[in-house]
Amino acid sequence: MDVVELEGRLQKLADEAVEALSAVEEKEEAIQVKNRYLGRQGTVQELMSVMREIPNEQKPQAGRAINRCKQQIESSFEDQLKEIAERELQRRIEEETVDVTLPGRKTSAGMGHPLRQVERELIAIFDAMGFEVAEGPEIESDYYNFEALNFPPDHPARDMQDTFVLEDGRLLRTHTSPVQVRTMHAYEVPIRIISPGRVYRCDSDLTHSPVFHQIEGLLIDEDVSMADLKGTLTAFAKRFFGEGTKIRFRPSYFPFTEPSAEVDVECIFCAGEGCRVCSRTGWLEVLGAGMVDPNVFEASGIDADRYSGFAFGLGVERIAMLKRGIRDIRRFFENDVRFLEQF
Ligand code: DAH
Repeated sequence: MDVVELEGRLQKLADEAVEALSAVEEKEEAIQVKNRYLGRQGTVQELMSVMREIPNEQKPQAGRAINRCKQQIESSFEDQLKEIAERELQRRIEEETVDVTLPGRKTSAGMGHPLRQVERELIAIFDAMGFEVAEGPEIESDYYNFEALNFPPDHPARDMQDTFVLEDGRLLRTHTSPVQVRTMHAYEVPIRIISPGRVYRCDSDLTHSPVFHQIEGLLIDEDVSMADLKGTLTAFAKRFFGEGTKIRFRPSYFPFTEPSAEVDVECIFCAGEGCRVCSRTGWLEVLGAGMVDPNVFEASGIDADRYSGFAFGLGVERIAMLKRGIRDIRRFFENDVRFLEQF
């Protein structure tokens, strides 16, 4: 074979390949066609074997002809790929619709635990009335948790049933009231604090959890009366539960206050009519309160003749359950996001 014949056959192959490529619709197909001509066992490669028959002086010309043929097929292949990609894009533009009215995907920023939210709300209300936040340890001594708060030695609240006692004789505080004593020890009168925090009791059911939260309040100054306590708690109840909320005081007993009261708010579910939540009484018990017992002042070195004060303590879980209509206290501690996300 001479170079002219080779050139003719190469041109035929190239034309054939270009035509075949122009007919394909898929990328894979285009690759197959290209390989058929340019692959290691491809048709063009086969033709290379005739190089042996080409006279030496024609070999450079033959080589150029082969390269030209390869380039033609190669560039036709590239063109075809581009066209396939463009066709695909065009198809998607025409067929795939974007609904621009769909709401965007929300990213969740996270949030405070429902108990924290309620705690913050409560703190903000007392903060606005001038109370400062004080803190105390969760591991307490019997002295701060009971003795300095005027608990008689045989008081049932010291019972092992209620109190988690540590091996060294210290205990997990059963209420936030020890912060009253710590504050009286650390600061001068006048005192106006609230103290939020965790407390512990050996108790567990629908409305009791071994760990729960309280907010303690303490105000000490000259001429503080029960009217100040009532005014403060009434203002609190209106801010937290709504402007029309009524509260009532029922006589009660706490070792560290005298007189002591249990404070109820008018049931926020039935507005005092009587319903399941308030056990048909029309009232919900929300906190304990009273005037600081002189024995407590004495234990803390405060002159009970000159100063008087009030204290109160409320359970954050109970208030949160009432406000949000939650029936089982354990929901707060299970960390099920389906529950937590609702707040
Ligand atoms: N410490 C009490 C309790 O846990 C609650 C309480 C009642 C706190 C009366 C007070 C108070 O400050 O005056 O049951």
